[in-house]
Amino acid sequence: MNGTAENPAELVAWYAEAGVTEALDETPHDRFAEAQAAPARAAADAAASATRQMPARDRAPPGQDGRRGEDARPLAAKPPAARVLAAEAATPEAAALGAKALAQQANTLAELADALGRFQGCALKATAKSLVFADGNPAGRVMLVGEAPGADEDRLGVPFVGRSGQLLDRMLAAIGLNRREHVYIANLLPWRPPGNRTPTPQEVAVCLPFIQRQIALADPDVLVCVGAPSALALLGMTGILASRGKWVEYDTGARRIRALATLHPAYLLRQPLQKRLAWRDMRAIKAALDETS
Ligand code: URA
Repeated sequence: MNGTAENPAELVAWYAEAGVTEALDETPHDRFAEAQAAPARAAADAAASATRQMPARDRAPPGQDGRRGEDARPLAAKPPAARVLAAEAATPEAAALGAKALAQQANTLAELADALGRFQGCALKATAKSLVFADGNPAGRVMLVGEAPGADEDRLGVPFVGRSGQLLDRMLAAIGLNRREHVYIANLLPWRPPGNRTPTPQEVAVCLPFIQRQIALADPDVLVCVGAPSALALLGMTGILASRGKWVEYDTGARRIRALATLHPAYLLRQPLQKRLAWRDMRAIKAALDETS
């Protein structure tokens, strides 16, 4: 390697070639050491956050039970939901339970976004720049759920704003829809997986209660799962090429809504011939909206 402190441009070029395209922080981190310390720290943070939300009368005075400093956080007075929160990052199962408890407590989309901001159970949050919650009109008749934010979305905090988002907008425009008026857009995961890798099943399972609650609160007439991970997690569909374009019902808990999976625009950018299939899906969405308007 030729790049040195005297030759920063070469150093940056060398990093870029090696796939390091993001500077997340000014100082290096030992992620292995942090991963070992994370569950305890996340549990402490979650407990603190749960405690802050408790009425003051329910909080035990610090140190009352003989514990000191960080350990002096009240345990005895914690309600069950707070105990779930305290454990939320300890294991993926506990994280999913914590997510479920937080998501269920949210009665509005704003409360849900706030809950995600407090949630510590998904490691993706540590490497992402932004929480990418949603874009568009929550009162729109169509809700689209993609996979996860990419680099552009992470930088701007808005879903589907990069190249694939621009293609998505053109596809929607072709059937007379736009995000400002008709469409609400979110992702299965609200944080960018590093390097745009596919989210792990664990990450999906942990974040699932949030997107399920988001769909229930937005309560669209039509749900469109954009891409295979969204179709699998929300509709149980495997094999996106075979299952796309087929109407199924999605149960929000309060009612059943029409749902369909379509191909991801990032895939269409790589395989432009498949746009004809996506076009069929777009026409099916338009027909479903026209039928029920
Ligand atoms: N791909 C997605 O699935 N979602 C985004 O927000 C951007 C790209």
